Amino acid sequence: MLEGIQAVNKMQPKDYRLRVLIGREEIENTVARLAREISKDYHGKQPLLIGVLKGSFMFMADLIRHLDLPVEIDLIRLSSYGSGMESSGRVKVVQGLKASVKGRDVLIIEDIVDTGRTITFLLDYLRRRKPASLKLCSLTTKPSRHLVPVSFDYLGFTIPDKFIVGYGLDLAEMFRNLPDICVLDDDGPR
Ligand code: IMP
Ligand code: MG
Repeated sequence: MLEGIQAVNKMQPKDYRLRVLIGREEIENTVARLAREISKDYHGKQPLLIGVLKGSFMFMADLIRHLDLPVEIDLIRLSSYGSGMESSGRVKVVQGLKASVKGRDVLIIEDIVDTGRTITFLLDYLRRRKPASLKLCSLTTKPSRHLVPVSFDYLGFTIPDKFIVGYGLDLAEMFRNLPDICVLDDDGPR
């Protein structure tokens, strides 16, 4: 396991073969569609959007530009993964919220729900802080990987069991800046 992580850490972006899974136009259309749904559902309210760092920063930045609502944003950083591709299964808060959640209409903005452990932890964590309402918006999910049931209020894409990078998502901090969502080719590193 540790050897695997160290091997990934030594890799450079040029060592990987990437294939576009979801192109930038499709992402943009879907982000706009999610924003329309959210704007309609929260009409007359001022929700608190909580982005889960680091992966959701790009999605959140694009999403809020499409919202026809007054919003407040905050960010939380959770750790569940090491620096490789496997979840450790233990989730902890690495950087907490500044805003108070009590009595607020809270909408979580996630990049991906994989096993569902991270989001289950966060939903519990926030529910204990007594929001007026609590919903989940995730750009992507891999249903075949869920280990716990998760229900989505807003969902962008259902994706196959492949490791994805780009549009905020990383592999060992690489590839977050790609404008498309890409998969690492099955053939592995070059
Ligand atoms: P979960 O707890 O297994 O649902 O994992 C959620 C977190 O794992 C996400 O917020 C990501 O940080 C990371 N993750 C899971 N799958 C991928 C992937 O395919 N690409 C990049 N990060 C991923
Ligand atoms: Mg995430």
